[in-house]
Amino acid sequence: MMTRTRCDHTPAWAQLQAAYQATGKDFDLREAFAADGQRFARFSQSAPLVFADLSKNRIDAASQELLFQLAHESGLLAHRDAMYAGVPINNTEQRAVWHTLLRAPSDAATASAEEAQALTQVHDTLDAMLIYAEAVRADAAITDVVNIGIGGSDLGPQMAVLALDAFATSGKRLHFVSNVDGHELAATLAHLKPGSTLFLVASKTFTTIETMTNAQSAKRWFESNGGVDIARHFAALTTNVAAAKDFGITTTFGFWDWVGGRYSLWSAIGLPLAIAIGAQGFREFLAGAHAMDQHFRTAPLETNLPVRLGLLDLWYRNFHGFTSRSIAPYHSALRRLPAYLQQLEMESNGKRVDATGAALPFGTSPVLWGEPGTNGQHAYFQMLHQGTDVVPVEFVAVKKPRHHLDAHHPLLLANVLAQAQALMVGKADAGGHKHFPGNRPSTFLLLDDLTPASFGALIALQEHRVFVSGALWGINSFDQWGVELGKVLAKDIAPRLASGDTQGLDGSTAGLLGMLRA
Ligand code: F6P
Repeated sequence: MMTRTRCDHTPAWAQLQAAYQATGKDFDLREAFAADGQRFARFSQSAPLVFADLSKNRIDAASQELLFQLAHESGLLAHRDAMYAGVPINNTEQRAVWHTLLRAPSDAATASAEEAQALTQVHDTLDAMLIYAEAVRADAAITDVVNIGIGGSDLGPQMAVLALDAFATSGKRLHFVSNVDGHELAATLAHLKPGSTLFLVASKTFTTIETMTNAQSAKRWFESNGGVDIARHFAALTTNVAAAKDFGITTTFGFWDWVGGRYSLWSAIGLPLAIAIGAQGFREFLAGAHAMDQHFRTAPLETNLPVRLGLLDLWYRNFHGFTSRSIAPYHSALRRLPAYLQQLEMESNGKRVDATGAALPFGTSPVLWGEPGTNGQHAYFQMLHQGTDVVPVEFVAVKKPRHHLDAHHPLLLANVLAQAQALMVGKADAGGHKHFPGNRPSTFLLLDDLTPASFGALIALQEHRVFVSGALWGINSFDQWGVELGKVLAKDIAPRLASGDTQGLDGSTAGLLGMLRA
């Protein structure tokens, strides 16, 4: 049962349309700053471990007020509370959406027997997983850990291990193999020895064809290169413990169907991170996310950062008509953040029907893309500054560096400030090639330091802002039916590649199949 009112059915929606026509579409950031010396203070805020400057966005107090009204009228708060309460808001799969429980402390207040039981299971599994992580860290014979998984079973742990590299104390080399393209696994295995390698087969379902194919090949390689003791050299991270056993893996760490794949970094899927940074670091990572969970759950709308970001996303997508958002982390350790956010946002909110199945008359997920700064500046920032489309940019900067090289960090920070400034202020040049129109919006997220806790908070912030826009759009952000058709067709095509049978195929697929067989 949906208790939400879809955004376009609220009174605020029509008022926002009027506000967009009256002041929104011609809003000029430079004029807004000139008119209000307090704009920075008014449109920035702190949230746990993250500071956010929203002042360089095309928003004024009146439209922001209407967006808050929209949030109230759409039932956002009730929907949020339903998520925290474990109501099956993933209505097409009848599942709760309870990743927040994965980072709740063991003594957190629970609202039902079911929640209390789930929390106990979470902590039992977490404790066991962290004991295992510490044992692996202490095992000098294991030099390499290979995570085999794809999508949420790869993007999160890979991003996190890179992001927290400064805290990696295990001395192990961590590898991530996701693609069914054998080049990836072959290149990884080429440098490994069975006796010193631990494979983590990470798959929520334990049926994903890429992961199963890579895991089978890894097992064959292990056995044919003299590897013994699968129990010691393979572990599974999955909700499908039975399938892992059938595969021959006895060391398994489970999780639950109420953990979405793209929200699973906090579960056993986070084991590579726990191995890299240790049990204490992993607990700090969970605690940082929990602090953001509490903020999202309790802060008033007006100072609730995930709410403000999600509302801004909707304002840009549905009123300004911006179709993409660029994410620019000015920290090379965050280089996989854009890829992670692509799945988080686009798999969650890339939907064309609402939760009842009715077609939507407005746009949903923006295209998310980006690269770390300053690299992006020398690639696609040209388009951001002077292209025909306006692309809101989300900068992420970290105040303290974790290296000791002189000059670099001030230069990095100068660049991120300069880019945000240049996008906004522009530069008049008679409208020609050297003219920068300016008035291009950006959000600036600032961490004091990139630590397990602040990183956890940053990722939880992103999860919740995606929840907010999805809730307002009235969609189910927690299923992903759109990935199924291609999987089914690949199963049909695979034997045809061997047999050459093109019966019933469209002309193009048949033609290409013939060329691949020739
Ligand atoms: O193909 C989509 C998807 O289901 C993602 O949602 C998920 O993260 C990924 O595949 C991997 O799934 P699994 O962890 O079950 O192997």
